[in-house]
Order: sequence, then C-alpha cells, then structure tokens
Amino acid sequence: MANFSGQVVLITGASSGIGEALAREFARRGAALVLAARRTDRLDRLVAELTAGGARAVAVRCDVTVDGEPERAAAAARERFGRLDVVVANAGFGVVGPFALLTLDDYRRQFETNVFGVLRTLKATLADVRRTRGRIAVIGSVSGHIATPGSSPYAMSKFAVRALAEALGHELARSGVSVTLVSPGYVASEIRRVDNQGVLREQTPEPVPRFLLMSTTRAARQIVRAIAWRRREVVVTGHGKAAVFFQRHAPWLTSAVIRKFGVRSRGEPGR
Ligand SMILES: NC(=O)c1ccc[n+]([C@@H]2O[C@H](COP(=O)([O-])OP(=O)(O)OC[C@H]3O[C@@H](n4cnc5c(N)ncnc54)[C@H](OP(=O)(O)O)[C@@H]3O)[C@@H](O)[C@H]2O)c1
Repeated sequence: MANFSGQVVLITGASSGIGEALAREFARRGAALVLAARRTDRLDRLVAELTAGGARAVAVRCDVTVDGEPERAAAAARERFGRLDVVVANAGFGVVGPFALLTLDDYRRQFETNVFGVLRTLKATLADVRRTRGRIAVIGSVSGHIATPGSSPYAMSKFAVRALAEALGHELARSGVSVTLVSPGYVASEIRRVDNQGVLREQTPEPVPRFLLMSTTRAARQIVRAIAWRRREVVVTGHGKAAVFFQRHAPWLTSAVIRKFGVRSRGEPGR
C-alpha cells in the first residue's frame, strides 16, 4: 500500500461522497489533510473523526465558484502543514436535461463549478505542487468520454476537464508533477440527488440500480492507488471501463446502443 506519511493532500468537495471517502483513504495512508467545501459542519465532523483516528486534518470553507476561495484552502495547507503534495480537484455536481429546455445560465452554472472551479483550484495550488514535485488529480467522469441524451451540460464540463488534464499532464511532464484524470462510472454518493441549482434534494431516491453502484470506499481506494502510481487516467467501475473501451474502439456501437435502447441521462431531482 503506497504511503503518504509526511505528505499534505488538499481535496475540494470533501464534505460528501467521493471526496469524503478520499479523505479517509488518504488519512489511512498517513497523509495530512486540507478538506475544502461549503458545508463546514460536515467538514468539521470529518476532521473530528480523522483526528480522533490519529490523522492531521483541517477544514476550510471554500466555494470553488468564487475567485480567491481555493487560494484560502491552499494558504491553509502552507500555514498549517508547511507544504502541499497532492491536490484533488473533486468538487462538482450535475446539471441535466434536454438541450431544448435548458438555458445558457444552466450551462454557465455547470461550468462555473465543474470547469472554472477546477481551474481555480489548480491555479491556486500549482506552484505548491511544483515545489514538492507532487501530484494533481482531476475528477472527471465516464461522462467525459460519452455524452448521453439529457446530459449535455454535465458531459460538456467533464469533456472539458478531460482536455485540461491531458494538456496539463503534457505541460508538467518534465516538472515531476503528475496529473491523473479520474473517470468514475456510477458511485454511491449524493450527486444524483442534487438539482440543477446545486441544491441537495434529500428525499429523492437514487435513480441508479444498486448492483451498478460502487461504494465510495472502494472507489476511493482505486483512485488513491492511481494517484500514488502517478497514472495518467483511471476509469473506476467495471461498467465504466466497458463503456469507455467501447467508446474508444467502436464509437458507432455505443451510438447505436444509445439510440436503439433509448439510453438517457437521469432526470433532475425534484422535478
Ligand atoms: N458519484 C458518481 O457516480 C460520479 C460519477 C462520475 C463523476 N463523479 C464526480 O465526482 C465528484 C464528486 O462527486 P460525488 O459523486 O462525490 O457527489 P457528492 O456526494 O454530491 O459530493 C459533491 C461534493 O462537491 C462539493 N461541491 C459542490 N459544489 C461545490 C462548490 N461550488 N464549491 C465547493 N465544493 C462544492 C460538495 O460540497 P458542498 O456542497 O459542501 O460544498 C460535495 O462535497 C464530482 O466532480 C462528480 O462530477 C461522480
């Protein structure tokens, strides 16, 4: 098991789902943590849990859509721990719906978090990870490879960060900093219960059948391993791997399946 002791990891969107599980997995491997998100009550609970288990962790309120807020999280890493080794740009949500019914503002809102939020996070931390010859992880999605009907804002945002990870990986190749694109399929988190405004609809049931969902703990283990090994990309979940494989090698087949079987994105929660 790769060890991160002595290393400092910053995770955006650490208050829930994949980000929260990543925090636990990095802590298990000895890392000190800077946990960033908007819901600080949840972050504080997570910090208490991790520190009770012997880890070092700090919570920072950070909305990735606001200029300057990821800088605060980066500053917390420097001030509290003196360095930053790993950045995980994980914060995100999904705007869904048919193109004809969505507004430009829906697309802007999606990009502000999933694309500009990632850019703000990486801009705020690049100098630090250069100094430590560290690691960057960008949480994309299988939707960054395949766009289904009703998923255009989310898929566009994930295609965009896939391009960013690819270009940045090349740019940093000689600097010793690795860039890992993480492309998960269905992982059991809150994401499909968050509406197009970014509001969690607690009452909405998970639309994905349980047999297709990977636990956040298992996903986090695979993601941290890929980051440790400085892999260029990891696709998480078996169905995700299959989908990306067919899209790469037989895109005509994935198109045919999507159209023939009427595959479409989930609906918006609360609608
Ligand atoms: N779960 C899946 O099936 C799946 C599949 C593919 C990709 N992903 C990607 O995985 C990442 C994590 O999602 P998840 O599934 O773990 O969903 P989640 O349980 O809903 O967690 C999303 C996290 O993002 C944070 N967040 C959202 N907007 C933010 C903002 N403006 N500023 C700061 N933090 C923000 C949330 O924290 P606050 O609300 O407290 O700010 C929360 O901690 C996302 O990028 C998502 O697109 C998930």
